[in-house]
Amino acid sequence: MSVKILSITLLLLSVCVCCHSSEGTRHRHPARIPPCCPAVTKGNRTAEVVGQTYREQAARGRCVKAIIFNTKNGQLCADPEAQWVKDLTAKMRKE
Ligand SMILES: *[C@@H]1O[C@H](CO)[C@@H](O)[C@H](O)[C@H]1NC(C)=O
Repeated sequence: MSVKILSITLLLLSVCVCCHSSEGTRHRHPARIPPCCPAVTKGNRTAEVVGQTYREQAARGRCVKAIIFNTKNGQLCADPEAQWVKDLTAKMRKE
C-alpha cells in the first residue's frame, strides 16, 4: 500500500520536473524586445561598472545608440562617444 503511494508520488514528481524543464526551454527565447536605453549618461561612471562585458545598442525607435554596462544596480546606458566609455570598452576587449 505505502509502496504504491510512494511510486505514484514519484511518478507525479517526475511529471512535474518534466513540465518545468520544457517550460524553461520555451521561455529561453522570448518574443519580446529586450529593454533598451532611451538616453545615455556622459559622466564618468567607470567606478560603478562591474564585470568585463558590455553590450552595444543601435538606435531604434525611441532607443538611442548606446554602450550598455553592468553595475551593481543594474544596467547603465553610456554614451559611445564619451572618452571613459571608449577607454573601458577597449580595456574589456583586451582582457
Ligand atoms: C574616469 O574615472 C576613472 C576612475 O574612476 C579614471 O581612471 C579614468 O581615467 C576616468 N576617465 C576619464 C576619461 O576621465
